Amino acid sequence: MAKSSAHGGFHLATSYDAIRAVAGDGEVYSSYVSGLGAADVVAEDAGSDDNPPPRAPLFEFDGHSHRTWRRILQPYFTPAAAKGHESLIRRLCREAIAGFVNEGRADLVSAYTQVVPPLVVAALLGIPESGRELLADQAKRLVAAESREEAEERGREYAKLLLSHIRERAAMPRDDMLSDVVHAEVGEAASERQVLRFASLMVAAGQLTTTDAAATMALLLAENPDLRDRVRASQKELDEFIEEAVRYEPAVAATGRAVTQPTTLAGVLLDVGDRVLITWGSANRDERYFSDGDVFRMGRGRTRPAHLGWGAGAHRCLGRHLARLELRVMLQELLTALPGMRLQAGARPRRTYGVIRGVREVPVEW
Ligand code: HEM
Repeated sequence: MAKSSAHGGFHLATSYDAIRAVAGDGEVYSSYVSGLGAADVVAEDAGSDDNPPPRAPLFEFDGHSHRTWRRILQPYFTPAAAKGHESLIRRLCREAIAGFVNEGRADLVSAYTQVVPPLVVAALLGIPESGRELLADQAKRLVAAESREEAEERGREYAKLLLSHIRERAAMPRDDMLSDVVHAEVGEAASERQVLRFASLMVAAGQLTTTDAAATMALLLAENPDLRDRVRASQKELDEFIEEAVRYEPAVAATGRAVTQPTTLAGVLLDVGDRVLITWGSANRDERYFSDGDVFRMGRGRTRPAHLGWGAGAHRCLGRHLARLELRVMLQELLTALPGMRLQAGARPRRTYGVIRGVREVPVEW
């Protein structure tokens, strides 16, 4: 455990056992926590003291209401539902690759890993094909903002666009995820602000994570020609590679929880209102469970206990079947089109740090 006074003060849990304990106890550790962790990447509506930030359905609910939201949304996330998106994902990958395959070199982040996931998550929400590019562009612009003012302005534009889709469904429900959330009643119907926060978090959960995970994986492959050739030759090895990469460098490095009753965690007393940052990436390298945790190593298989790159407990990643499929198809298509891709000579790709982690650019040639 560590303690920081940054961001209004928080505790940091780093061991596998402490993180599992927090993630497994939604009564003591609530997911409705402001200003800390992955949920804080969505800050369009931060609320104020007398107007608290809206609580996002699913992501920020606990206990019974969380389980109810999860049941409502589950059908969109089964392995079979994920499979239903495979041909769309493959088409998007091929279109993106066609844009640079003849160039002999590319930055895989801007040309590929940032291009496919936002279009997939827009489809998942139920945005019609004609509206997906615009939503994806605005989401990308928001992520690329370089100052707080720029982020706020782009956040407002983005929220306006999402709201137009939400209002359309409020007036006329369709058979899609966004309509289900607008019209569901869990206790009471979610307010417009809540649905908006849900939609922004879903775009972030589906887009930022997969973009960063795919970039981290593309970099690992571009740096290691032997590994690249192994995973190109076998889907089993590719799937194993993806799982080990999610252990080794999980895109969601940390998320937050708020303490709801006095408790003790790893010997540290916590009080009501304290906030805890749980660092999934650190749990995944806990030497008590993962030998040579700092080493990327194929062949760990689905180790017991499981790594925590997809989270743990009630909020464990609902999108993991889709994410695994998306990453598999993205890497398959990339390695089929560019079997000999390697890092450009002299390139030193920069990592991005924070609660969501990835790589700024992956400059390759072939
Ligand atoms: C490699 C990519 C991904 C990683 C590493 C990842 C990781 C995670 C983690 C660690 C959590 C738990 C957060 C917490 O307990 O505080 C989570 C939750 C979640 N993820 Fe993912 N995720 C990925 C991709 C996706 C995708 C593609 C989607 C869907 C579009 C998705 C949807 C969700 C949802 C809905 C939750 C919240 C579940 C709940 O609150 O019950 N994720 N994810």
